[in-house]
Amino acid sequence: MSLTIEHLKVALQGKEILHDIDFYMEDGEFVSLLGASGCGKTTLLKSIAGLLDTREGDILIDGQSILREPPEKRGTVIVFQDLRLFPHMTVEKNIAFPMELQKIPKKEQQETIQRLLAEVQLAGYGKRKIKELSGGQMQRVALARALAADPRILLLDEPFSGLDEKLRLEMGSLVKKLHRERHITTILVTHDKREALQMSDRIALMREGDILQYAEPREIFYRPVSRSVAEYFGKTNYIRGTIKNGRFVSPLLEMDAPDLDGNYDALVRPFQIRLKKDGAFEVTDIVFMGEMAEVMLETLQGPLICQCMSTELADMGIKKGMKVGIQIKEGPFSCFAC
Ligand SMILES: Nc1ncnc2c1ncn2[C@@H]1O[C@H](COP(=O)(O)OP(=O)(O)OP(=O)(O)O)[C@@H](O)[C@H]1O
Ligand SMILES: [Mg+2]
Repeated sequence: MSLTIEHLKVALQGKEILHDIDFYMEDGEFVSLLGASGCGKTTLLKSIAGLLDTREGDILIDGQSILREPPEKRGTVIVFQDLRLFPHMTVEKNIAFPMELQKIPKKEQQETIQRLLAEVQLAGYGKRKIKELSGGQMQRVALARALAADPRILLLDEPFSGLDEKLRLEMGSLVKKLHRERHITTILVTHDKREALQMSDRIALMREGDILQYAEPREIFYRPVSRSVAEYFGKTNYIRGTIKNGRFVSPLLEMDAPDLDGNYDALVRPFQIRLKKDGAFEVTDIVFMGEMAEVMLETLQGPLICQCMSTELADMGIKKGMKVGIQIKEGPFSCFAC
């Protein structure tokens, strides 16, 4: 099912929280919603699910407005961070809950429960009480319960936060697997950029009630529309130069650039800079980070931060205080007007 949001404005207690949101998802798309705490991610999901009143605009599923539909008729399901399971009820009863509401015959409910338990790798756990499960298992029950509602749109509001890294990765793979099999149009709210870059067809980055950029992972990472978007996705270097006749020129970098003539900062990610043994730039610091290392350089144009494999650095024998050269690897690059 496709999802369209048109000029959506939402106010809570008289304060506008979402300002004129426009957003479109294809049928079966997987989109991650990113942004700082308080920027309106949960508010957007709740508006889609009908849990909040909207001030202006429209929300459509497959071209049909759902704005006047009550939450239970929208075909949307939210899995919240706190999961909202019934702790004293069994796993089966929790999963059956949305099917009870839909008055699905008991036999069909049982078949669905067993199938879902297998899909979320909890076969045999049906009779356990929720309070007898681990955090990761509870999250899988919450996912199974959401799927039991057979949603048209699945809304996941940071369901894996609070898990350790290994379990997060497992839950991420499970969600992706279920998404591949069922092709449900899904929005995942997350704080984890890497998770978003890995899992999503597209990413929407929000700030203070607006969507700053909505694009495919490679596009938002390599071609951010603004410095704020660039900085959200990782460390940045800005190399000052000028564009003339479609070419960016600076002492450190030259490249074709489609922008208008003028002064620009070219965005160069730290891993796009390759170090060479001898050169004009002093190494002012080295930070070991495990497989990668960060190397700070001083140039006439200001400090530069570079990232490389720590083994590579050791092989070249680069140390603090040495002078090194650089080569900026081929783009894609973005330029921002100064
Ligand atoms: N019921 C409410 N009444 C008034 N203001 C609210 C209400 N719920 C949320 N807000 C405000 O709306 C803004 C957006 O909140 P929201 O919960 O959507 O943020 P979020 O992006 O989901 O943040 P987080 O990452 O912390 O979950 C915040 O400033 C918050 O204080
Ligand atoms: Mg939230």
